Amino acid sequence: MYSQRLITSLSLVALTCLQCVASADTRAEAVRSAFQHAWKGYSAYAYGHDELAPISNKVSDSRNGWGASIFDGLDTMIIMGLDDDYNRAVEHIRAVNWSKSSTPSKTFETNIRYLGGLLSAYDLKQDQILLDKAVELAEKVIMPAFDTPNRMPAAYVDVETGKPLEGNVIVLAEFGSLQLELVRLSQLTGNEKYQDAGNHILEKISEVPSQVPGLYPMLWELDTFTAESSYITISGGSDSYYEYLLKTHILMEGKETLQLDMWNTAVDSMQKHLRSETLNGRVFLGEIEQDFKLMQSGELVCFMPGNLLLGAAYLNKKELNVFAQELMDSCYGTWADSPTGLAPETWSWIDKAQNTAEYPEDLKQTMLTKGFLAQDTGYDLRPETAESLFYFYRMTGEKQYQDKAWKIFEAIEKYCKTESGYTRVSDINNTNDVGPLDFEESYFFAETLKYLYLIFSDPQTVSLDEYVFNTEAHPFKLKTPIQVQAKTFEN
Ligand SMILES: *[C@@H]1O[C@H](CO)[C@@H](O)[C@H](O)[C@H]1NC(C)=O
Ligand SMILES: *[C@@H]1O[C@H](CO)[C@@H](O)[C@H](O)[C@H]1NC(C)=O
Repeated sequence: MYSQRLITSLSLVALTCLQCVASADTRAEAVRSAFQHAWKGYSAYAYGHDELAPISNKVSDSRNGWGASIFDGLDTMIIMGLDDDYNRAVEHIRAVNWSKSSTPSKTFETNIRYLGGLLSAYDLKQDQILLDKAVELAEKVIMPAFDTPNRMPAAYVDVETGKPLEGNVIVLAEFGSLQLELVRLSQLTGNEKYQDAGNHILEKISEVPSQVPGLYPMLWELDTFTAESSYITISGGSDSYYEYLLKTHILMEGKETLQLDMWNTAVDSMQKHLRSETLNGRVFLGEIEQDFKLMQSGELVCFMPGNLLLGAAYLNKKELNVFAQELMDSCYGTWADSPTGLAPETWSWIDKAQNTAEYPEDLKQTMLTKGFLAQDTGYDLRPETAESLFYFYRMTGEKQYQDKAWKIFEAIEKYCKTESGYTRVSDINNTNDVGPLDFEESYFFAETLKYLYLIFSDPQTVSLDEYVFNTEAHPFKLKTPIQVQAKTFEN
C-alpha cells in the first residue's frame, strides 16, 4: 500500500514536470519565432544600420551607424541557436570601422551595446574576431573618453580624431556604470588599464559627499566632479549606476569591496527614503528633488527588484527579499492593470501617509483601486520587468514568474507586432489604438527577447551561477561560479 502510493505520487510529479517542461519549451519557441520575425524584417530593410523603423521600413542610425541591432542581437542569436544569422553578423562586425561615423560616440551607449555585445558573444562562443574588435573599439573610441584633466570620462568622443568632446554636464548612469564592461575586458585581455580606468571613477564618486547616504543626483559637472543639481532617481539617468555596484563586486569574485559598500548604503537609503506605499498597498521607489519626495516612478526602475534579489542571494542578506518582492509585485502590477497588458513608461501615486483631503474624489478612487496613475502612456519595448521576472524565476524556481512573463510576451505580440518587426507604441491605455510609433530599439533584440527566452528555457542555459548580465542584458562569464539559482534546478 505504502509503496504503491509512493509510486503514484512519484509518477504524478514526473507527469507534472514533463508538462511544465513541454509548455516552457513551446513558449521559448514562440519567443524565438518573435526574434526570427523581427530579424527577418531588420535584415530585409535595414541590415547594417542601427535600427529598423518597423512600419515605414526606413532605417535609423541613432548609435553611430555601426549596426547596433547586430551587436545587440549577437549573443541572443548564439543563445537561440540561430547560426546562419550569427555567421552573417560576424562578417558585418569584421568590417566595421570604428573611426567612421557622422556623429560622435556616446561613451556610455557605445560601451553597453557595442563593447558589451562583443564581450558577451565572445564569452559564449570564443570567436577571436569578437575580442579583437572589442579591444579595437575600446582603444579607438572608449578609452579616449578618459583623456580629460581629471581622468573622468567625457560623455562623447569624436571618433575620427579620437578626442573627447567638450561639454561639462555628465550623467550619473553614463559615467558611473562603465566599469563592468571594462573589468571584463581586462579579465579577457590580461591588461588591467581598462578596469583601472573604470573603477577609478567609482573611487572618485565615493569621495563625494551626498545629501542622502549612497544616493547621488543625476546631473554632475565633469570639471569639478560634483553634482550640479539635487534630483535623485533610480530611473533613467541614474539606474545602471546602482545596478553595477553589485554586479562589479560579483564579476570581480567578491574581491572589490568599495562598490559593495556603496551598493549596501544605497539600498539602505532606497528603503528609508525612496520606498513609498500606495493607498492600495503597492510599493514603488519615489524620487527626491531638493527637500521633496516625488511620488513618481517608471518601467526603467523595474530592473531593481531583480538586482535586489541577486544581492540578497549572493550576499546572503535575506532581509532584502521582502523589499525585492514588494517591488517586483508592484512593477508587474503596472502591466497586469493596464487594459492592453503593456506597462506605461511612467506613473505617479499618492503615498498612503499623505493627506488625501485635497484630492478630487475620482483620483482618490483610482488610487484606492489601482494605486497609481499612468503619466507617460508610451511603451518602448522595454525589458525591465521581464528582466526582474527572469531573476525571480531563476532564483526561486516558482512557475508564477514564467506565467507573468508569458502575459507580457502575449501583450507585446498583440499590440507591438508589425509586418517587419515590433514597434514602440504611444498609448498602452487604448486597446483600440495603441498609437504605433515606428521605432524598434536595438535593446529589444539584446534584452527584451533574451530575458523572455531565457525564462522559458532550461535554467542551466546562461545560468546566473555562471554569468552576470550587463545593463544591456549581455551576459559576462564569471571566473568562478557562484550559487544564486534555485536549488530545485540542480540535478
Ligand atoms: C576608417 O575610416 C576613417 C575615417 O573615414 C578612414 O580614414 C580610414 O581609412 C578607415 N579605415 C579603414 C581600414 O578603412
Ligand atoms: C485610460 O482610459 C480610461 C478610459 O478611457 C480613462 O478614464 C483614463 O483616464 C485613461 N488613463 C490614462 C492614464 O490615460
